[in-house]
Amino acid sequence: MRRFYNYCNLEKSKNMWRQVLVIVASSCLCKNTAQQPAICNDVNVPNFVRYHLTSWQHAVAGVDMIVENSEAGIVSLDLTGNEHVTIVVHGRESGIYTEFGNTLKHSIITADKQMIVILVDWSSLSFAPYEDAVSYVPCVSNEIRSFIENMMAASKLNPNRLHLIGFDLGAHIVGIASRNSVARAVKITALDPAGDGWGADSQRLNATDAQLVEVIHTNGNGAFGSTAYGIGEPIGTLDFFPNGGDRQPGCRTLDNECHHKRAWQLFAGTVDAGGHLIAMKCLDMSQVSNDRCTMIPPAVMGTLALVKFNTGLHRVNTGSIYPY
Ligand SMILES: *[C@@H]1O[C@H](CO)[C@@H](O)[C@H](O)[C@H]1NC(C)=O
Repeated sequence: MRRFYNYCNLEKSKNMWRQVLVIVASSCLCKNTAQQPAICNDVNVPNFVRYHLTSWQHAVAGVDMIVENSEAGIVSLDLTGNEHVTIVVHGRESGIYTEFGNTLKHSIITADKQMIVILVDWSSLSFAPYEDAVSYVPCVSNEIRSFIENMMAASKLNPNRLHLIGFDLGAHIVGIASRNSVARAVKITALDPAGDGWGADSQRLNATDAQLVEVIHTNGNGAFGSTAYGIGEPIGTLDFFPNGGDRQPGCRTLDNECHHKRAWQLFAGTVDAGGHLIAMKCLDMSQVSNDRCTMIPPAVMGTLALVKFNTGLHRVNTGSIYPY
């Protein structure tokens, strides 16, 4: 299933991808790589990961910048280390100059005008065939882990003020990056984490990757056996299943892409509206699916709040159009 969010980005991505192919081809002379997922060593991953830094002030002044993941690049950042920082990571076949990137960036810097937002661009790898993109997840995670650790080493980042947000494969990327970092992030928001290739025995995002691991599942199981994009079971400390977590109102039943991306649309809605989607707690997935969740305390889904005392499964029923 190929999906293209942004054609300009795709053009750029195609060029970068050609470079990847040249590198892969030149390093694997005897192997038939067509059938096999690529591995980290086949590409120089740091060359394909970019960090786009912005904030309300940066955006107003028109001085958003690309930060180099190097001592010089990070030491030169005009940060005190006390700022709240949100790192946003996109998923498969996507980038940051997309509806996803633009929406999240706008919502976050508008809601918190002091927030530093770093959008991670791994588009030239994410447009690879899905299995290859999956195989790049550990290397992209490792690259982001080094960026986070370099920021901490330069006293430009306090992990207790670090919020990681990932959509689709990006959810596993931020989970693994936080898990392997010298200090875990205080919060992860995982937006419909990718399910294909991410079974229970994988390195997928899990509840110990941050103090608060909030997961919003919107396409956990596909309709009528069709292939879903997400994961239909709880994997965080606080899991939300809007409208049951499989299919979303306003999307055609079989349009899993629509159900999937509703995760970040809902999240952006909660940031814009300041926490209007209140979910009741559920005992198990059967209550989630049958809309039988009545337990308290209710939980506020989404938002930029770094601390929540709720745990477990939750369901909220939403509308079909923004802010849902
Ligand atoms: C989370 O994942 C890590 C690495 O795969 C593993 O060591 C750890 O036990 C997992 N924790 C949970 C709660 O599953």
